[in-house]
Parts: sequence; C-alpha cells; structure tokens
Amino acid sequence: MMFEKLLWPAGIVGTVIGLATLTKDYVDGERYRGEEKLFGRTVIVTGANSGIGEQTSRELAKRGAKVIMACRNMKDCMSLRDEIVEETFNPNIHCKKLDLTSLKSIKEFAEEINEDEKRIHVLINNAGVMLPDQRKLTKDGYEMHLGVNYFGPFLLTHLLLDKLKASAPSRIVNVTCSNFMHAKLDFKNLNFDDKYHGEAAYGQSKLALYLFSVRLAEMLEGTKVSVYAANPGLCYTKLPRNMGWYKSYISSAVIYPFLFLVMKNPRAGMQTVLRCVLDPELEGHTGKYYDNCKEIEQVPNEAFKDINIDRLWATSELWTCLKTHAELVKTQPDVVKSHHDVAKS
Ligand SMILES: NC(=O)c1ccc[n+]([C@@H]2O[C@H](COP(=O)([O-])OP(=O)(O)OC[C@H]3O[C@@H](n4cnc5c(N)ncnc54)[C@H](OP(=O)(O)O)[C@@H]3O)[C@@H](O)[C@H]2O)c1
Repeated sequence: MMFEKLLWPAGIVGTVIGLATLTKDYVDGERYRGEEKLFGRTVIVTGANSGIGEQTSRELAKRGAKVIMACRNMKDCMSLRDEIVEETFNPNIHCKKLDLTSLKSIKEFAEEINEDEKRIHVLINNAGVMLPDQRKLTKDGYEMHLGVNYFGPFLLTHLLLDKLKASAPSRIVNVTCSNFMHAKLDFKNLNFDDKYHGEAAYGQSKLALYLFSVRLAEMLEGTKVSVYAANPGLCYTKLPRNMGWYKSYISSAVIYPFLFLVMKNPRAGMQTVLRCVLDPELEGHTGKYYDNCKEIEQVPNEAFKDINIDRLWATSELWTCLKTHAELVKTQPDVVKSHHDVAKS
C-alpha cells in the first residue's frame, strides 16, 4: 500500500529529472572528439582564470601544451595554475600578468613573451567583459567593452604576430559572441561618448573582433597562421558578474536554477574553441566563424562591407597607437578621408 502511494510521486520526479537531463544534454551541444596532443606546443590563453578560459587551459594542459595563462589577477591565476599542475601532472603551466584595460600592460606582456618564448603556436583571445548600462572607460579612455574585448586583442595579436609567423603553422582564436550578427558599428559614436547602451557596446566589440578575424586571415594568407572566430554559446560563467540581477541574492536565487538548465556549463562552452585550436581539418579554413563546433556561413550585414572593415582597421591602428595619424594619411588616405567624412556627417 505504502509502495503504491509512492509510485506516482516517484514517477513524476523521475520524469522531471529525465527531461532535465535531456534538456541539459541538448543545450550543452556538440563536443569536440579529436584526441590531438600538444607536446612541444606553446599556447597563450587570455582570461584564463575563470569560465571558458579556465576550462580551455585545463584541457590544453591535459594535452601536454605549455600553457601561458594571461590574467590580471595574479593571486587567482597562481592558485588555479597550482591546481591544474596537480590535476594534469603538467608542470609547464605559467601565469603572466595582462590587464587589457591598459595598452601599457599589453605592451609589457607582449615584450616579455617575445623575449622569453622561442615559439607561440596558439593565441586564444578569450578574455572579455559584459557590463550594465553605466559607461566605464579603460585606463586609456576607451569605452570598456571596446577596449577590453576588441582593442586589447587587436594590439596583443599585432605585437605577437612575428612570433606567431615564425612558429607557423600556428593559430589565433578570437572568442566572440553570436550577438555580433545583429550588432552595429557606429563610426560617429564608436567610443559611445553619446547615448551609451551596455548591450549595444558589448555587441559592437564582438562584431569588431569578428571583423578583425576576417581581415587578419586575409592579410595572413600564405603565412600558415590561421585565424578563427569562435562562439562558445550561452554559458553559465561569471561573465554577467557586474549585472544587477547577478549580484542580487533574491533574483539570482530565482534565475539560477532556470539558467543552469538552459545554459551550457563552461566545459561545454569550450568545445568550439577547442576545435578551432586543435582540429587538423580546419587548416585552410582561416577567417571562418564557428559555433557549436561547426563552421557557420555569415548572413551579410552592413558592417561586413570592405570599406567599414578598412575604417575599423585604421581606427584600431590609430587608437592602439600602432600607427600615427600622419602614417595613416600617407598609407591609407582614402580610409582616413572616408573616416573624416563619417565624423563630419
Ligand atoms: N558566457 C557566455 O555566455 C558567453 C557567450 C558568448 C561569448 N562569451 C565570451 O567568452 C569569453 C570568456 O567569457 P566567460 O563566459 O568565460 O566569462 P568569465 O568567466 O567572466 O571570464 C572572463 C575572463 O576575462 C578576464 N578579463 C576581464 N577583463 C579583463 C582585463 N581587463 N584584462 C585581462 N583579463 C580580463 C576575466 O578576468 P577576471 O576574473 O580578473 O575578471 C576572466 O578571466 C568572453 O570573451 C565572452 O565575451 C561568453
């Protein structure tokens, strides 16, 4: 009798657990199943102390790579490094200071790498921020999303490019977000001095990172340095740590169980990045965008026009101090002119 009474509730609980497991399995998406090893290869992972960067570092360490964890918080980085060494028996894991809010820090990091490392085989531009609707600036005065998610990787990649070329075949993986497809590049308000909106600024920075990947791949043709843009998908990480709802105990208690079900865990989110780092089949597919471990054809967007990419590139060279205005006027007068025309209109 007692047993019969329990049958119904047990059946309901079982069904709920079964459905939740199936949903989670579906949400977590494709896994990268390649078994490539990385002994003798050196990989840099930015933002390696948390979320997708942390999981990527663990996995690449397991596969034997020398992993350079590029982080701004050395205490967190060192303790995670010790944990990874203990877990993977790979002692070749190193922490180096990198703060993407500062061009000076990026230059110092690159200088140290160029001096200390013979080869860099993979650069993963993973670090990123997502902020609410209160505009914040980097140490150099750039809107925070634009500075950290785009100018930082742009400058860092340029400063390490010779080393990546000398280490070819090598790869650059830029971790973007699918929302770039609907984002806009507004050259009149690139730095969001006017009408700031957090979501638009995040989208713009990820769009810029995607366009950077496309153009860089074209420029590196024939060098055996491949460039990929990877979307990890919606993942349960600390990315929204600055959002009001994430900080509030009450709303997060309500939202968390739901998010847990509909978002990937960071290990699942890492899979697309992993494929871009490892898969030998992707050799020659440079400049492409990957989501859920697959190459995705881009729906054309106004921002993808060559003239916009040229303008973005020139602006990025200027704002990251890779080139002076005088140099750009000399080498790319059309781009500088069109940029001025937009600024005036
Ligand atoms: N989670 C998602 O749903 C999702 C979706 C699409 C794309 N992405 C992208 O995936 C990447 C990884 O994000 P995540 O989800 O793993 O978030 P996360 O757990 O917050 O990790 C972000 C990492 O970036 C680092 N970082 C932030 N600002 C930095 C700075 N100024 N200098 C150096 N490092 C800095 C963070 O370091 P601290 O710990 O010191 O802050 C952290 O290690 C980001 O580019 C993000 O835009 C995430």
